[in-house]
Parts: sequence; structure tokens; C-alpha cells
Amino acid sequence: MANVRLLIVYYSTYGTNHAMAETAAEAARAAGAEVRVVKCRETAPEGVVNGQDAWRAQAERTASVPEATPEDMEWANAYLFSAPTRYGVMASQMRAFIDQLGPLWAQGKLANKAASAMTSAQNAHGGQETTLWSMYVTFMHFGCILVPPGYTDPVIYASGGNPYGTTFSAAGAGLDDATKASIAFQARRLVEFAGKIATA
Ligand SMILES: Cc1cc2nc3c(=O)[nH]c(=O)nc-3n(C[C@H](O)[C@H](O)[C@H](O)COP(=O)(O)O)c2cc1C
Repeated sequence: MANVRLLIVYYSTYGTNHAMAETAAEAARAAGAEVRVVKCRETAPEGVVNGQDAWRAQAERTASVPEATPEDMEWANAYLFSAPTRYGVMASQMRAFIDQLGPLWAQGKLANKAASAMTSAQNAHGGQETTLWSMYVTFMHFGCILVPPGYTDPVIYASGGNPYGTTFSAAGAGLDDATKASIAFQARRLVEFAGKIATA
């Protein structure tokens, strides 16, 4: 889709949301979008990150991924955010990035962009839907146009039936095929609708 500049912003402690972001990026590029994948800056103290092997390994694996900046948000005309569920809402690293965007928000530079969200949690009923809502509420403050998947494709049912966005119950295993299909569908749908509202 011409004219779609999709910014995929993720935070990931252990790799799940990073894998979700990369899956979405591949589908969005195949749909014709220009895509940037960026990570939220780590805010946990270095000692805490290094104190967990899996956390440190993920930080090392993604050391070369650029950190999200306000300029990325201005560049894009579509947003896909992916962050782990933390006590039922998005991880605070994602929130810390969002909280830098006040000046852009005040200038209306986050408005009128298509936006969608994904998450993972340990438990199917551990707050996945409320986490998506925590991101969508922020998108509404931006003035974004929400593009949830709804029940517009059979892949949504196959991946757990969440109409708000793709969610994955992360129990140590990688993404399954049904989740990957759901992510790809959500990304293509976002690109499609971003293309419809893009002016330049
Ligand atoms: C501080 C903390 C809070 C969490 N809160 C929840 C929760 O409320 N519900 C849940 O099901 N999982 C919870 N989890 C599990 C994470 O959601 C899970 O580790 C995450 O989805 C993995 O994503 P990642 O691999 O991208 O880091 C929590 C994990 C941490 C470290």
C-alpha cells in the first residue's frame, strides 16, 4: 500500500513482543508499507536486567534495534504498539516512551493516524484485554483512528478470539502458527486502513 509509513513500537523483556513486532513487520512490508521497528528504552536498572539471564539475553539480542523516538512518531502515519501485560496494563517502559510525546500531542502531530495494538501475558485471563485497552485509550487521546481486527477473519477465532488485537499467552514457548496468522492479518488490516486515510 503506497503512502503507508508504519511505526511498530514494542517493548519486550523476554522476546515475545519482539517476535510479535517482527511478524507484523514482515506482513506489513509484504502489504506494501514502509516499516520501522523500534523498541522502547529499558528503564529497569542495569543490575535488575543483568540479574535475570533471560532478560539480559533479550537485551543483548536486540542491542542494535533502534530506540523509539518522538521523531519516529511524527514520521509515521500508522502505529502498531506491542507490549507485555504488567499487572493488567502495558509495561511501564512503553508508558515511559509515551510520556515523552506531550509536545507532539500538543501540536496535533499524533492525530489522524491509524493505530492498533498487541500484547502477551502469562495467563489467558491475566489482563490481556485490559492491556490492549490501556494502549487504545492512549491512542484515543492522540486522536488516532483505531483499527482493531474485530471478528473480520477466521484467523481471529483460531488464535483465541480476541477482537481488540492479537494476544498471546506466553508460557516460554515461541509464537504458534495461529498467533502468527492473527498478527499478520492485523498488520495487513492496519496497512489497508492507513492507506485509505493517508493524505501524503
Ligand atoms: C512485573 C510483571 C508483571 C506481570 N503481570 C502480569 C499480569 O498481570 N498478567 C499476566 O498474565 N502476566 C503477567 N506477567 C507476565 C508477562 O506478561 C509475560 O512475561 C510477558 O507477556 C512476556 O512478554 P515478553 O517476552 O515480550 O517480555 C507479568 C510479568 C512481570 C515481570
